[in-house]
Amino acid sequence: MKRIAIFASGSGSNAEKIAEYFAPNPDVEISLILTNNPQAGVIQRARKLHLPVVVFDRKSFYETNRILQLLQNQHIDLVVLAGFMMLIPEALVAAFPNRIINIHPALLPKFGGKGMYGDFVHEAVVAASEVESGITIHYVNERYDEGVIIFQASCPVEPTDTAANVAHKIHALEHQHYPRVVEEVLNSL
Ligand code: GRF
Repeated sequence: MKRIAIFASGSGSNAEKIAEYFAPNPDVEISLILTNNPQAGVIQRARKLHLPVVVFDRKSFYETNRILQLLQNQHIDLVVLAGFMMLIPEALVAAFPNRIINIHPALLPKFGGKGMYGDFVHEAVVAASEVESGITIHYVNERYDEGVIIFQASCPVEPTDTAANVAHKIHALEHQHYPRVVEEVLNSL
């Protein structure tokens, strides 16, 4: 059995797509959904999918080993970040080498780093008159959006596109690719 923990801070559409993708697979389990945001939409999605939810705060994430110990006690094989807004503590990165992955809604290394998340990314892409955008799935290290890139997919950005138009295209790419890439990484472990 391969066990996945998904971290999300927001709506959780990617977490939901990943959980739905693996639901028919008896050899893969979404063991935990973890969030730092008690209002996160991912909590409702997890409840609907009957997935265990853990809500934690900044203090326990950065000043205790509670979350790390929980992941180890649950024998988690792969940590998947899906719209998770906090930097991963070094102890967690060190405990899961090449076993933490993230999805970023742009073609890194462009439009990455601190503060580059959600609509801020799409607004920056439109403001820069980019002709394309896309998604980047990468391993996670101690710095935002700087780990080794695993997969990228792109989409055109039209001159008439708003940030919302770009966001819609990006979400479609994410839902199309993230579950399959998670499976490919799992199979490589
Ligand atoms: C996605 O755009 C992802 O690329 C970024 O955060 C967003 C999460 O969306 N890291 P959702 O919460 O999965 O709907």
